[in-house]
Amino acid sequence: MMEKNQWHPVALISDVTNGPVGVRLLGEDVVLWRDAQGVAKAFVDRCPHRGARFSLGRVNEGNLECPYHGWQFSTTGQCVKVPAVPGFTPPPQHCVKSFGVQEAYGLIWVQLEKPEGVDVPLPVFEAEGDERLRKVNCGPYDVQASAPRIIENFLDMSHFGFVHEGWLGSRDTTEMSPYNVETTPTGVKATNCKAVQPISNLHSTKPAEVHYTYEVTAPYTALLSKIPEDGTTKDGWREAIGLFICPMTPTTSRVWFRLAVADFESSDDKLQAFQHTIFTQDQPVLESQLPKELPLDPRAELHSSADRMSSAYRRYLKGCGVTFGVC
Ligand code: FES
Ligand code: CO
Repeated sequence: MMEKNQWHPVALISDVTNGPVGVRLLGEDVVLWRDAQGVAKAFVDRCPHRGARFSLGRVNEGNLECPYHGWQFSTTGQCVKVPAVPGFTPPPQHCVKSFGVQEAYGLIWVQLEKPEGVDVPLPVFEAEGDERLRKVNCGPYDVQASAPRIIENFLDMSHFGFVHEGWLGSRDTTEMSPYNVETTPTGVKATNCKAVQPISNLHSTKPAEVHYTYEVTAPYTALLSKIPEDGTTKDGWREAIGLFICPMTPTTSRVWFRLAVADFESSDDKLQAFQHTIFTQDQPVLESQLPKELPLDPRAELHSSADRMSSAYRRYLKGCGVTFGVC
């Protein structure tokens, strides 16, 4: 499964203070915790002794301690203590599988399988390094939909007048002007997307034509960037939103947004509330879609010329060999 080689977000950095915290990724139970130096670790959430869940246990002197018989595992996954037999030195095979961990974009990322000799990079989120933009995370949202269905919804502008009527669109302006779709080294990109939006952000006072770029940079990551309201690009900077999804099971997902905005005045709550309103408008529609997995066969669903980006995304997933969350 190529998805196991990729990095996936599994939790907010701020949600793993010490741990342990249980999460689900690609159908696997994973436990997150921090060692004595505060470095995040990810192990299989199953004790190799009698199969109890580590995430019910605790971190004890920099080791992960199982809740059942108190066996302790060090940062490498090696068992270092069996309390019932204090004189026993556990052999190397007394160990638990550990996974790759990174922290970025306010999230903890896990890689279940590292391909031999290859360093797979994290999905790119360029706005992250731009100090003129403030970063705020929204979520998690637990959604009863596959990760690819959620990405596709994010790339789709032709639902704005219906699902987000009065916010991102209106029934009076549903026609979509043509946009460009191209493939990139890491995914697909749509440029020159335009929409007239009644309330395009927190501070809107009147409808505005908003110019978007959408980009898919990994199977379950999509980015949107937009030129500010007045149309001036000011040094070319753009506000951005990253959509980062943890594929928990083929039909359930945990979703975060990372906002990179020029607004340094509004409270986090206010920025999050706007994104929350928009996403909770999408959620019931997303959860109603069948099949839950995204069909990659072009004949499985009907398409219009407005769907060129979604079709490009489906071709990209097929080309990568993605199997989780698609059918
Ligand atoms: Fe984990 Fe026994 S099941 S220590
Ligand atoms: Co929407």
